[in-house]
Amino acid sequence: MNNQLNLFIDGEWIETNDKLKVLNKYSGETYAEVSKAGEREVNKAIEGAEKAFKQEELPPYKRYEIIKKVSELLQEEKESFTDSIISEAGKPRKQASTEVDRAIQTFEVAAEEAKRISGQGVPVEAAPGSENRMAFTIRVPVGVVGAITPFNFPLNLVAHKIGPALAAGNSVVLKPASATPVTSLKLAQLFAKAGLPKGYLQVIIGSGSEVGKQMQEDERISTYTFTGSAEIGLKLKQNTGLNKLILELGNNSPVIVDKDAAIDKAAETLAVAGFAYAGQTCITPQRIYVHQNVLEEFQEKLLDQMQNLKVGDPFDEDTVVGPLISEEEAKRVENWVDTAVQAGANILTGGKREGAMYEPTVLSQVTKDMNVVSKEIFGPVVTIIPYSDLQSCISEVNESPYGLQGGIFTENLDTAFYAARNVKVGGLMVNDSSQYRVDLMPYGGVKDSGWGKEGPKFSIEEMTEERLIVLNL
Ligand code: SIN
Repeated sequence: MNNQLNLFIDGEWIETNDKLKVLNKYSGETYAEVSKAGEREVNKAIEGAEKAFKQEELPPYKRYEIIKKVSELLQEEKESFTDSIISEAGKPRKQASTEVDRAIQTFEVAAEEAKRISGQGVPVEAAPGSENRMAFTIRVPVGVVGAITPFNFPLNLVAHKIGPALAAGNSVVLKPASATPVTSLKLAQLFAKAGLPKGYLQVIIGSGSEVGKQMQEDERISTYTFTGSAEIGLKLKQNTGLNKLILELGNNSPVIVDKDAAIDKAAETLAVAGFAYAGQTCITPQRIYVHQNVLEEFQEKLLDQMQNLKVGDPFDEDTVVGPLISEEEAKRVENWVDTAVQAGANILTGGKREGAMYEPTVLSQVTKDMNVVSKEIFGPVVTIIPYSDLQSCISEVNESPYGLQGGIFTENLDTAFYAARNVKVGGLMVNDSSQYRVDLMPYGGVKDSGWGKEGPKFSIEEMTEERLIVLNL
């Protein structure tokens, strides 16, 4: 272990005595040691961000140059970032490498969007008595953005918050997940190298109940952007009063395999999407609704395709399913599956745990009150739910409190349109799994999956305010 990292506050690397051990999630060995922020450091971070925002306005072309440079530096350091993601997040090599590619894109798009921030003309002169007036809006940065990010995409979900926040002209205080802080600190090094003026980005490490809470109580932060569970999202909402809030929360993603689906394609897609990175993304398919006419064929093909899933060491090039983020989380998944089985569910494959590893698992005979169906499992477990009537199936899909992304496999255009109009989600994928995401698209849910959209263009809207200017000529 040679990774010793410190907090990044107001352009300086700050060491504290209180250290956090970051584990390699597969081997369980210590991978890095990171300084933790106390009350003083959190305060200094917010102070630095506020000062930077008030003192030195960065023109859009400068923001473009800096963020673009970060994207280029990331490309140069791709291997090193891939390795940190594998180590601290336990993400299998190919997926970790894809995450770095995606973050390069996210920063590139955010950089470009910095040059396109604009308001609109407002025809006030159309109102009687306003003949001599002219009006337009401009978009202005919100100020200090507090970003709280999850463990599952330690680079790209951080990029989705700080890229657009900086592109919009804000300063940022970032608190990455305690399980995966190393990648964020390495990213801060790239920002420093790219010439970001001090105070525009701070990275502070600590728990949600201490550092996160202090951030939420500080009125100098004007806008919060959070990805994580609905429970914490709700607390954040309660704690941050009338502040702006962007919430990307959970999901128990539905995918429908209709009677007119290309079954081979559906099985092949879902056999990977349901289990890659041990199911730890908010859009991993979890509830697979299958028309009874194709149920047997789909199940057989899904199980067949799953035999190709390599489970094990995330450093191995061929691994698709690595460990969960902790043994505790693997035990929770095991408990949900065991409880479902006691209540009548049937394990078609999987169902066993070893340490933080949990086998890719398919459950049938499930009911909607079981946790494996009704809650976000965040593990390598899918449930198969047969249906005979699409309309009732979609009503059942919509009973979920969540609505981030969903999918439907069908070769029938009418069915696709019907689903597009009726499935209550932020994004519906036709002939793909719920997991499809490219980084420029609007990403965000409805209901308990949160509000506000990510994707640089859309986040920039959330992280700026529209100001009306009226000229009385
Ligand atoms: C998430 O887990 O919400 C992010 C998924 C992704 O970016 O692919």
